[in-house]
Amino acid sequence: MLVLGIESSCDETGVALYDSERGLVAHHLHTQMAMHAEYGGVVPELASRDHIRRVIPLTEACLAETGLRLTDVDAIAYTQGPGLGGALLVGTSVANALAFGLDIPVIAVHHLEGHLLSPLLAEPRPAFPFLALLVSGGHTQLMAVHGIGHYEVLGETLDDAAGEAFDKTAKLLGIDYPGGATLSRLAESGDPARFTLPRPMLNSPDLDMSFSGLKTAVLTLVRQQEAQNGAIDDATRNDICRAFQEAIVEVLVKKSLKALKQTGMKRLVVAGGVGANRQLRTALDLAASRRKFDVFYPPLALCTDNGAMIAFAGAMRLAFAHPAAGFSVKPRWDLASLPAA
Ligand SMILES: Nc1ncnc2c1ncn2[C@@H]1O[C@H](COP(=O)(O)OP(=O)(O)OP(=O)(O)O)[C@@H](O)[C@H]1O
Ligand SMILES: [Mg+2]
Repeated sequence: MLVLGIESSCDETGVALYDSERGLVAHHLHTQMAMHAEYGGVVPELASRDHIRRVIPLTEACLAETGLRLTDVDAIAYTQGPGLGGALLVGTSVANALAFGLDIPVIAVHHLEGHLLSPLLAEPRPAFPFLALLVSGGHTQLMAVHGIGHYEVLGETLDDAAGEAFDKTAKLLGIDYPGGATLSRLAESGDPARFTLPRPMLNSPDLDMSFSGLKTAVLTLVRQQEAQNGAIDDATRNDICRAFQEAIVEVLVKKSLKALKQTGMKRLVVAGGVGANRQLRTALDLAASRRKFDVFYPPLALCTDNGAMIAFAGAMRLAFAHPAAGFSVKPRWDLASLPAA
């Protein structure tokens, strides 16, 4: 079965072809980051217009690269939500129109299910059940995953997502948009011993987290430094980045370990953009070897939004997805409401 996947929920247009026998055969991506940088954040109307420009050429690129034709495609998967309404409509319309024209099934995919299952695109594949740490720009959740569609939220952030905290903190440190990945790179040359920032809810009895206070703590630290020494220099900024990253990583690792203990699970799967963070991966790898559990990540290029995870989730759901009657988008959509396989 060959599935074409289309992702257009936010600021990345992703198209991919996943073959249930051969695996991922092509994926192409266009990121709108440079376009939105001028505004310091995603401008929804510009995002929708850009998706319209990109989606067909990206589809053609996937076909040209593989020598496949549209008529070889058996089903089309697209992100139905959650995300920006106008942006979602682009992928939704294209997917439904193509599927109608080709007379093949169309599969509406939940964006977070795409992220959640993306580690299954790497080898070795984690077997079900597993604990998932979903850490993206909009979500931070710990989930027990018993199978496709069997998702149980065990804990989540009460305010900012981890990726959002990275981005907002980068902005207040004067790092160009989108700053999360740059902040993490600068943190690598920072001194972990110079500053200590709070670890919000580190020892709370539940599996919830909170990251919005951390950015306020960074702001207070920046003001203190400026009052003492004038404008912060590069070394100080890097040390602050490091202190911030140390705090986030410690919270994410400790809560994950607690969830593993609580559920008795032996496999941890990390998904979403913050899953690309090197310090988080190192800390989790170390904990895994000490505590005897296995940890799985998506391929680095598939941590942030992409069409491959949508094609893959579509292929997983193909067997039992119901043909969509008409089409609609779901800018807000609860993952727990998905039907189980
Ligand atoms: N190396 C890194 N370290 C920390 N954060 C990172 C790194 N690389 C990317 N990010 C963060 O990942 C986020 C983007 O990830 P992703 O594309 O999964 O999220 P999203 O699609 O915006 O949100 P959602 O999927 O929840 O709707 C951004 O917030 C970015 O700062
Ligand atoms: Mg995403």
